[in-house]
Amino acid sequence: MSKLRLGVNIDHVATIRNARGGDYPDPVRAAELAIAAGVDGITAHLREDRRHISDADIEALAAVTRKRGRPLNFEMAVTAEMEAIALSHLPHAACLVPERREERTTEGGLDVIGGHNHIAPVVARLAAAGVRVSCFIDADPAQAAAAKAMGAQVVELHTGAYCDAVRERSPQAPALLEGLSATAAEAARLGLEGHAGHGIDYETVKPVAAIAQVTELNIGHFLIGEAIFVGLTAAIQRMRALMDEARASGRAA
Ligand code: PXP
Repeated sequence: MSKLRLGVNIDHVATIRNARGGDYPDPVRAAELAIAAGVDGITAHLREDRRHISDADIEALAAVTRKRGRPLNFEMAVTAEMEAIALSHLPHAACLVPERREERTTEGGLDVIGGHNHIAPVVARLAAAGVRVSCFIDADPAQAAAAKAMGAQVVELHTGAYCDAVRERSPQAPALLEGLSATAAEAARLGLEGHAGHGIDYETVKPVAAIAQVTELNIGHFLIGEAIFVGLTAAIQRMRALMDEARASGRAA
């Protein structure tokens, strides 16, 4: 199987910084450390309410990732404000996510089918500017087909429901994994790149990483949490090793 890329989402370094105000700890330093640890990309979500990452962080992250030759994956709501920011920084990739102020995190995938008229022009303008556009979707082949039809190059599968089910020891977990797998297969059949992310930890990473059509994982909260105990480099290295083990042993993991 092909190598699986690891993108690290550094949003929650900014969450800790913002708990006190000021500028410590700096998510840009975390990005530098993650890059030194060998990650394939840095992911950051500039939320409308700026609860973690700030505009200045995005500017600094764009500069540091460019300098270090690693892709910046800009997670963004489909709004005119975020589109303008993406077009001003021209990150390697933009991942379109649904966003509601009251949610704690991105709780579900983007409804690409229902939101077609609103989302398609944004996809077209970002793609025309050379940004690789991804749509963050739930495990649903029809959403992947809609993303393809509007010109997205990537779908990122929302793994949150599966990861929650595993943590809760729910009997639904195998079916949820099957849904992710089927959607990844359909995305590949359509010529889309398949990424996955949300809620992934050391336990859930292997089954997701073993889905052959998934080519990139974006992992944040767990890695930043684990960094408190073992350091960011060690947390990333362990995650990377688990991904590689899963990739070597296929769906049997
Ligand atoms: N991918 C997307 C599109 C996300 O919105 C998030 C959360 O910001 C992640 C990946 C990472 O999720 P987590 O922080 O739970 O690992």
